[in-house]
Amino acid sequence: MKPLPGFRDLFPEDFARRNYMVGKWREAARRYGFVEFDGPTLESAELYRKKNSGGEILGQLYEFIDKGERAVALRPEVTPTLARMITARHRDFPKPMRWFNVGTCFRYERQQRGRLREFLQFNCDLVGDASPAADAEVISLLIDLLRSFGLGPEDFAIRLSDRAAWHDFMTLHGVEKEKAGEFLTIVDRMEKMPPEKTEELLAPFGIASATLQEFIAHAEIPALAPLLADLEARGLREYVRPDLGVVRGLAYYTGVVFEAFALRAGLRAIAGGGRYDRLLADLSDGSADLPAVGFGIGDAVLLELLNECPTAKAQEVAALKADAPVQIYLVIADQTHRSNALFLAQQLRGEGWRVGFPLAQEKVGKQFGSAESLGASHAIVVGAEWPEVKVKRLSDRMEQELDHATLAVWLSEEEGRNLKLET
Ligand code: HAM
Repeated sequence: MKPLPGFRDLFPEDFARRNYMVGKWREAARRYGFVEFDGPTLESAELYRKKNSGGEILGQLYEFIDKGERAVALRPEVTPTLARMITARHRDFPKPMRWFNVGTCFRYERQQRGRLREFLQFNCDLVGDASPAADAEVISLLIDLLRSFGLGPEDFAIRLSDRAAWHDFMTLHGVEKEKAGEFLTIVDRMEKMPPEKTEELLAPFGIASATLQEFIAHAEIPALAPLLADLEARGLREYVRPDLGVVRGLAYYTGVVFEAFALRAGLRAIAGGGRYDRLLADLSDGSADLPAVGFGIGDAVLLELLNECPTAKAQEVAALKADAPVQIYLVIADQTHRSNALFLAQQLRGEGWRVGFPLAQEKVGKQFGSAESLGASHAIVVGAEWPEVKVKRLSDRMEQELDHATLAVWLSEEEGRNLKLET
């Protein structure tokens, strides 16, 4: 039996990649002063139906009636949960709030490259500050996060846009307020649709697709100037491209919107976000009127991107190697010294080392084979020389005899010598 379409089994090698990725997510968020939170994976379906929190996601909900006759849905994204949680207790937190989450989301999507039905999403949101400085802080975090994986300006770019410019366009071209969502969805999908389809969908609005193309190609976005100046001051301007072609598919965005795109193998969105200044007020009937800006990125798209970019892949491989399941393997050369080996194993584990040894009697050659395949950097031979032991560094076969009592100190000095013993 296989997992359902769009769902994954994570074997240990997959989970090691996930841990590497999530570790970097958390580090990046914390460098910007963000604190972690989580909410439930199952929510009332109404949360996604309430004004503004829906958009295209409503058609992708995993929803059902539970045994208590409640209409519930697996969360397709975390932003509505974040908004719900903050509106409930917003007076308890000094503003602005910087919150991040690493959580599983579910969307009944058509399966395609990097798109799954169950995926892990990383979200960072800054709540309670409406300034371009807050936008810049969140976008910088996204750029730094991608850079921390060894990705550079040749690998990704952030396309930056402003929904306000599109609202001005709609006013100018007589698009009714109630039809704004529908219109923006067409713009959002335009890049992926054949031109005839765009033309057909735009016909009821009386707008030609050429008019849209013209607007995207030539419109200035003056509102972005302070944000761009902020990113320039941080030395991050080269990563950002103003581009009105981005509007984002979710209904709740109100101002600046952005998407990170992979540049190597076709332009694919890898992360997206923007400003949603009315969502919290709408969810709380006005009692928590807090502006917010944030982004989300999924694990599947990011892992695909790392595979495509040589520097990032080399960094990942090195990190996974350094994080091997076993650092030190005890080779028991003489069974009469098994209890000494057990003593040593526990002592080294107590010092924080990841230690392995054979559970049954085995030939010495086989034990060295296990040491290599488990990724150990050192083998320690316990045998007739006890209380002396022989330490072998597996990368260059360096050997040294030591009293076992001095081993812990020797190993930490070896780590200090920076020889592949990173934990
Ligand atoms: P989103 O654009 O729907 O935005 O998703 C953000 C990212 O989540 C995508 O760029 C992609 O990396 C990942 N993602 C989305 N759907 C899937 C899927 N089916 N399979 C794999 N990965 C996926 C949001 O979700 C907003 N809530 C982000 C946000 C936070 N805006 C403000 N704060």
